[in-house]
Amino acid sequence: MTNSNIPKILVLPGDGIGPEIVNEAVKVIGCLREHGVTLELQNGLIGGAAYDETHSPLPAETIAQAEACDAVLLGAVGGPQYDGVERHLRPEQGLLDIRAELNLFANLRPALLYAQLASASSLKPELVSDLDLLIVRELTGGIYFGQPRAQEVQNNIRRAYNTMIYDENEIRRIAHVAFAAAQKRDKRLCSVDKANVLEVSLLWREVVEEVHKEYSDVELSHMYVDNAAMQLVRAPKQFDVMVTSNLFGDILSDAAAMLTGSIGMLPSASLNENNKGMYEPIHGSAPDIAGKNIANPLATILSVAMMLRYSLNHAVEADKIEQAVVMTLQQGMRTQDISDSGNNAVSTQEMGDAVVKNLQQLMSA
Ligand code: IPM
Ligand code: MG
Repeated sequence: MTNSNIPKILVLPGDGIGPEIVNEAVKVIGCLREHGVTLELQNGLIGGAAYDETHSPLPAETIAQAEACDAVLLGAVGGPQYDGVERHLRPEQGLLDIRAELNLFANLRPALLYAQLASASSLKPELVSDLDLLIVRELTGGIYFGQPRAQEVQNNIRRAYNTMIYDENEIRRIAHVAFAAAQKRDKRLCSVDKANVLEVSLLWREVVEEVHKEYSDVELSHMYVDNAAMQLVRAPKQFDVMVTSNLFGDILSDAAAMLTGSIGMLPSASLNENNKGMYEPIHGSAPDIAGKNIANPLATILSVAMMLRYSLNHAVEADKIEQAVVMTLQQGMRTQDISDSGNNAVSTQEMGDAVVKNLQQLMSA
């Protein structure tokens, strides 16, 4: 916590649908404040929105603000208007840089199927009903950040390379997060790698085995990433917690998200060693629907719940937000992405208002 005792949240709406969905999440935070939860909000710039104003996707001021806050709420970054921008100035770079600056090495991506949305999944209902899995993705290492990396011309031939690298400390700390999460759930952890091909995966496996000795109540298994992708769409309920590297986690978490029917439903937390965190929906900036008031704000609202639970020590209020979301789904409210026919879908604002109304009721109860 920072000096004053009031927890501070930095709000970074970003690009595309980011501002719209973050708006609804801020309404939810407003409702908590009306009911006596003290929280202070501050706005900042990231991604394309920051680049447009400051020529940097992560201005120094945003980093300073984030460092002074207890938690960060992020919308999304990126858009086609930045496709031609140099890589180090692209909106996505702002996201990668803030993860690195704040040392947010542990990315928690739960995939939870809401019973009301079972028919929205592309898999048969019996394969996904009651699905509840957690992907723990390493977020500040691996091939995303490894050196050397370059695109160059050698002897008139263009070539490019990246480096997938982990040291044992990076593997150990993410393994601890994953084992501890599994301990609080069904006590099963599956570590995903490519140890049949990659040295970096052999070390990953070795270190995960070592850390396992401290968590003997958790059942550990290993799986190659190609098989894990197949198993996720074949029989996803076999998994409780999965732990994996940055790149593999990026790919598998999109697949896992879709099992639940819509990527518009899933929140995420990115944490450092002290549980300071950045919270964001796992979907992107969806430029095709930006500004239309049709995006699903629930992933961002559920990210606020994760923020209250992991960084702000407000587990009761976190539960209430999640309950308010379930009530809203029970009442039949559906944004376009989760409605069966696409007809009668409610707007981003209507969905946010409905959640706030339910939350008001739960907070006054
Ligand atoms: C994610 C996103 C990011 C990533 C992009 C936007 C850089 O896909 O959070 O999963 O690859 O980590
Ligand atoms: Mg991704």
